[in-house]
Amino acid sequence: MSRRTSWAEPWKIKVVEPIKMTTRDERERAIREAGYNTFLLKSEDCYIDLLTDSGTSAMSDRQWAGMMLGDEAYAGSANFYALEAAVQKYYGYEHLIPTHQAVAPRTSCRRSHQGRRLRPGNMYFTTTRLHQELAGGTFRDVIIDEAHDPASEHPFKGNIDLAKVEALVAEVGAERIPYITIGVTVNLAGGQPVSMANLREVSAYCRNEGIIVILDATRAVENAYFIQQREAATRTSPSPEILHEICDLSDGATMSGKKDSLVNIGGWLAVRDPKIAEQAQNLVVVYEGLHTYGGMAGRDMQAMAIGIAESVQDDHMRSRIGQVEYLGNSSSRPECRSCGPSAGTPSSSTRSRCCRTSRASSSPRRLSLPRSTSSRASVRWSAAPSRRAATRRPVRTATPSSSSCASRSRAGSTRRRTWT
Ligand SMILES: Cc1ncc(COP(=O)(O)O)c(C=O)c1O
Repeated sequence: MSRRTSWAEPWKIKVVEPIKMTTRDERERAIREAGYNTFLLKSEDCYIDLLTDSGTSAMSDRQWAGMMLGDEAYAGSANFYALEAAVQKYYGYEHLIPTHQAVAPRTSCRRSHQGRRLRPGNMYFTTTRLHQELAGGTFRDVIIDEAHDPASEHPFKGNIDLAKVEALVAEVGAERIPYITIGVTVNLAGGQPVSMANLREVSAYCRNEGIIVILDATRAVENAYFIQQREAATRTSPSPEILHEICDLSDGATMSGKKDSLVNIGGWLAVRDPKIAEQAQNLVVVYEGLHTYGGMAGRDMQAMAIGIAESVQDDHMRSRIGQVEYLGNSSSRPECRSCGPSAGTPSSSTRSRCCRTSRASSSPRRLSLPRSTSSRASVRWSAAPSRRAATRRPVRTATPSSSSCASRSRAGSTRRRTWT
């Protein structure tokens, strides 16, 4: 591990995308017309787009070169095997099922785990929870209390409170908890990481109780980097080694490749158990495409395979996390402070408190989630209202409730800052 402390970027810019320079008046008009919903803004109206890091990474020259190696055969694409090898090498899971986005593996998990059961997790990602509830399950938040306190400087606010999991098992029995989802890092908490010590403890307990551990590994490389930086026992280990250990403590993972893996599209489900893999392969062919492409083009699988290898470099992570920290610390306005401590790429969402300063009387227009079995997630996943409809009539529906930093800040805000 190198001892560099600056977050200077380990790359040169070779291509640029010209963008429109907007005026404040233009931006105010655009957000008004979008009903104060950032999801309804046109990207061309955003000079600095902080909505999400999802799919926005610039790809490297090697990834673009890899795109030229696309093998678009229906079955057995060479790019599938390249991606499988990368996932096996860096994440350590044996069986890979590619999907067009992370939402697809969650659909598969839902269809293979139907029933009125509990699904604990360290907070939740919106559509993950939705799929769990559509499957008849009930989400239970088992994250540590510090995650709900924006001011807490706990270094691992994504940690699971094992006592909460134990209480759940005592309440309903382990057989009614098919799996636990662990987000590494936790999006809704502002990109806060989970410690290795906590992962070890939770994994040992779940294995003993026969509860499957599934990671949302979307930003697991970021999590590995935080473990390296904040946990004394791993201070000298390189990120790829830590990433491997994180995954070793789980039975499988879902992935949105649009974040850590530096691609514009793509995701996967990976598992160790060949029987679960077979079930998922049988489902993916129905909902996404054959199990060796799962809705992805061969060229995109190749770009992801290369992106994975590039993403696990310590220099890359230092630069990425350093940039987020710089942004988080750069405002002197107290209302623009991020949740503490500085975290991964979703942490900018937690600065939505500064939106309180904008038109508090307007209602945000929202994209909504389907009405679920739980009244706490009383939402409808309808198509986004058309832009014209949006400008006429404010639509207000509930989002899954939580006392997280992000949703707390929403209460007083006129814009919705959800990280996708
Ligand atoms: C932590 C996390 N999980 C899952 C997803 C869903 O991924 P996708 O958009 O690829 O379905 C996202 C972002 O969208 C995310 O940030």
